[in-house]
Amino acid sequence: MSISGKKILIAISGGIAAYKIHFLIRDFVKKGAEVQVIMTPDAEQFVTKLSISTLSKKPVYTDFYSDNGTWNSHVELALWADVMLVAPCTANTLSKMVHGMCDNLVIATYMSAKCPVFIAPAMDLDMYVHPSTRKNLEMAESFGHVVIPAESGELASGLIGQGRMAEPETISNTIENFFNSQQEAQTLRGKVVLITAGPTYEALDPVRFIGNHSSGKMGFSLAEEASKRGAKVILISGPTAQTINDKNVELHKITSAKEMLAKVFEFYDTIDIGIASAAVADYAPKEVAKEKIKKNDENLTLELVKNPDILKTMGEKKTHQFLVGFALETQNEEENAKGKLEKKNLDMIVLNSLRDEGAGFKNDTNKIKIFTRTEKKEFDLKSKDEVAKDILNFVESQLLK
Ligand SMILES: Cc1cc2nc3c(=O)[nH]c(=O)nc-3n(C[C@H](O)[C@H](O)[C@H](O)COP(=O)(O)O)c2cc1C
Repeated sequence: MSISGKKILIAISGGIAAYKIHFLIRDFVKKGAEVQVIMTPDAEQFVTKLSISTLSKKPVYTDFYSDNGTWNSHVELALWADVMLVAPCTANTLSKMVHGMCDNLVIATYMSAKCPVFIAPAMDLDMYVHPSTRKNLEMAESFGHVVIPAESGELASGLIGQGRMAEPETISNTIENFFNSQQEAQTLRGKVVLITAGPTYEALDPVRFIGNHSSGKMGFSLAEEASKRGAKVILISGPTAQTINDKNVELHKITSAKEMLAKVFEFYDTIDIGIASAAVADYAPKEVAKEKIKKNDENLTLELVKNPDILKTMGEKKTHQFLVGFALETQNEEENAKGKLEKKNLDMIVLNSLRDEGAGFKNDTNKIKIFTRTEKKEFDLKSKDEVAKDILNFVESQLLK
C-alpha cells in the first residue's frame, strides 16, 4: 500500500518554510504520486515556479488567468485532487480559509475542494500561539481538516519555540498513513449502495403539504460511512436541512413518495445494497388543489389515498440486492419489525422504538436493534454516525456469509 497513483494538490503560501516543499514534492513524485502545485502570489517571493514545476513535472499556477488568456480552473484543480495539502500554511492563508475570504486561486481552489484537506502551519513563535491562530486552527479542525502541528526548534526570526513547519518526512508520512488507513477500511469498495433518507412531502395545494419530522440525519450518516468504506453511494433524499460534500455520494433530491419510488427504480438494477431509512408518507391527498385552499368552511375534510410502498416494491423486485429496512414502532416493536422483514422480503431490519429516549426521528442519537431472519442484535444509545457504522458492520457481516 502506498501513495502511488494518488493525486496530491499542494498549495504553498508565503512563509519561509516554503523552501522545504521541494523535498516533499520530490518524495511524493518518487513514490509515484501525481503532484499539482498552486501558490499564493506571496509564495512566489519564497520559491520559484521554475524549481517547483521542474520537481512536480507540471505547470504551477498562482493566478486565475494564464498569460495566454485562458482560465486556470480552480474547480477542476479542486475536483482532480485526492487530497489537498496547504503547506506551509501562513497565518494569513489559514485565516482566509476558515473565514471564506476568497481572493486568490489557492482559497478558491480550497473552497471548491471535496477531498480531505491537510494543513501544515508555519509561523513565528508569537504568531503561532496568538489566540487568532489558535481559534483558526480549531475552526479548521472543526471542518474536518487535519492539522499537522508545527514543530519546536529554532525559527527563522532567531526565536526558539513552536512554529516550524513539520518536516517533509512527517508530512509525507501523515498523508501516506491516511491513504493506507483509507485502503484498509475500503470494505465496500466496488459496491453500489442506494440509501433513501428524510421525509417525503405530499402536496395539498401549491403552498401546503403533509410531512413528518424526519431529519434525514440517519440516512446522511449512512451515506457518509458507506462512502468512507469505498462504496459508490446513491442518496435519494426528501426535503431536509442535511448537506453532504463527498465525491462518492450522488445526492438526488425528491419531494414526494411517488418521486422517491421513481428515483429508486432508476438505479435499482445496478445496486448491491439498498437501505431504506426514509420516512415515506403512507398516504397522500387524493387531489392536489390547483389554488391555495381558502379557510371558508368550518371543517375541512381531506381524502387521502395510499402511497406506493417503496420498500415493499423493492422487496418484490429483488434479484441480487441486499435489502435493509427501518422500522419505527411504538408498540409490539419486535413482532412488528420481524413481520415487516418477512412481508417486504428484506434481508435485515433496523428497529428503533419511540419508547427509547434519544432514539428516532429528530435526535442526533439513536438506539437500535437489528434483526435478520435468524439473528437479533441490540445496541446502546449512540450518535447517528456511530449507529451508521454498526449498521454497515452488520450488513458486511451478512454479505460475507
Ligand atoms: C521573510 C518573511 C517570512 C515570512 N514567514 C512567514 C511565516 O512563516 N508564516 C506566516 O504566517 N507568515 C510569514 N510571513 C508573512 C506572510 O508572507 C504574509 O502574511 C503574506 O501576506 C502571506 O500571504 P499568503 O498567505 O497569501 O501567502 C513572512 C514574511 C516575510 C517577509
